[in-house]
Amino acid sequence: MRGRPLIPFAVIAIVGLLLITVLSFVGLNQRDAMQEDEDGNGGEEVTEFDDPVAAGEEMAQQSCIGCHGGDLSGAGSNPDLTNLDLTHDEVVDVILNGQGAMPSMTDNEVEADAIAQYIMTLNE
Ligand code: HEC
Repeated sequence: MRGRPLIPFAVIAIVGLLLITVLSFVGLNQRDAMQEDEDGNGGEEVTEFDDPVAAGEEMAQQSCIGCHGGDLSGAGSNPDLTNLDLTHDEVVDVILNGQGAMPSMTDNEVEADAIAQYIMTLNE
């Protein structure tokens, strides 16, 4: 009779240990997934594009046409971007820092570089 209450305790202990083991593996997997997100392309920080011109075009379609017109050839007082007298680096500078009434569009230099590469293809 004396030893009997020990059995439920043993069961609880084993189940508890199993839970701890399982949960810590779940935690490790989640941590790995979170780190992948930080390093991979899913995160904020873009480090490089496979095809900068295509990526730049996509971003320009999202960020620039609102002011510069659907084909970027200007709209209202917003200048034409297809007939620029600027170098690639000057376009990067405008995208990063803004100019006059135009605000800075991103502080990510890789994105700014890709957009500028696309803009330069419109000015060839
Ligand atoms: C909120 C409206 C707005 C948005 C959005 C915008 N621009 Fe502009 N942009 C302007 C205005 C206004 C000017 C003229 C600024 C000035 O010189 O006074 C300008 C000027 C420029 C110039 C310089 C043109 C020159 O001849 O000096 C470049 C290059 C340019 N924009 C590129 C872009 C790109 C690329 C994007 C998208 C990433 C973009 N802009 C998004 C309003 C905008």
